[in-house]
Amino acid sequence: MDETIKLHDRQFKVLIPAARIDEAVTDVARRINSDYAARETPLFLGVLNGSFMFLSDLMKKIEFNCELSFVKLASYEGTGSTGEVKNLIGLNNDLAGRHVVIVEDIVDTGGSIEHMVRELERHRPASIEICTLFFKPASYARTIPVRYRALEIGNEFIVGYGLDYNQLGRNLKDVYVVTE
Ligand code: IMP
Ligand code: MG
Repeated sequence: MDETIKLHDRQFKVLIPAARIDEAVTDVARRINSDYAARETPLFLGVLNGSFMFLSDLMKKIEFNCELSFVKLASYEGTGSTGEVKNLIGLNNDLAGRHVVIVEDIVDTGGSIEHMVRELERHRPASIEICTLFFKPASYARTIPVRYRALEIGNEFIVGYGLDYNQLGRNLKDVYVVTE
């Protein structure tokens, strides 16, 4: 368990073992099961790529009839604009009147999730909530409520269980933190 792994130029060590992640996924699924049991066919919307493993494990613990789809936030440089603009792609569902649960791997500053919620609201869903595997409270700088947070962590950079360091590490079943 205390062995380190190398991804690109950095060393990583285990921060959260798979068994602890599974407990946290079970807890958050229990909350969603109780909150959504009476709602008309909720739609889980996974944000690719990072959420694939979390969403897969979460769905196995959901006990009501639901739908599942994926979207992606594609980065591109806006011409003439200063910052990076993220474009929501892959949304093929009619969201009008639907109960939507966005499933994210990690909410850090909150910029990505805020942008996504603003985009989705234009489709007039009945409700939108955010479910994230990891939440960094010290880094979060937005006002959008993040209702379901499976695990809270500090400001360290983590990989594994879907999260990557320059595309490596998504396949790891434990979550690792970079060693200095
Ligand atoms: P935000 O817009 O600052 O909330 O950043 C969210 C995105 O940054 C996530 O969806 C990840 O792609 C990436 N990210 C933030 N923190 C980490 C981390 O610790 N490890 C891997 N990716 C991260
Ligand atoms: Mg992400």
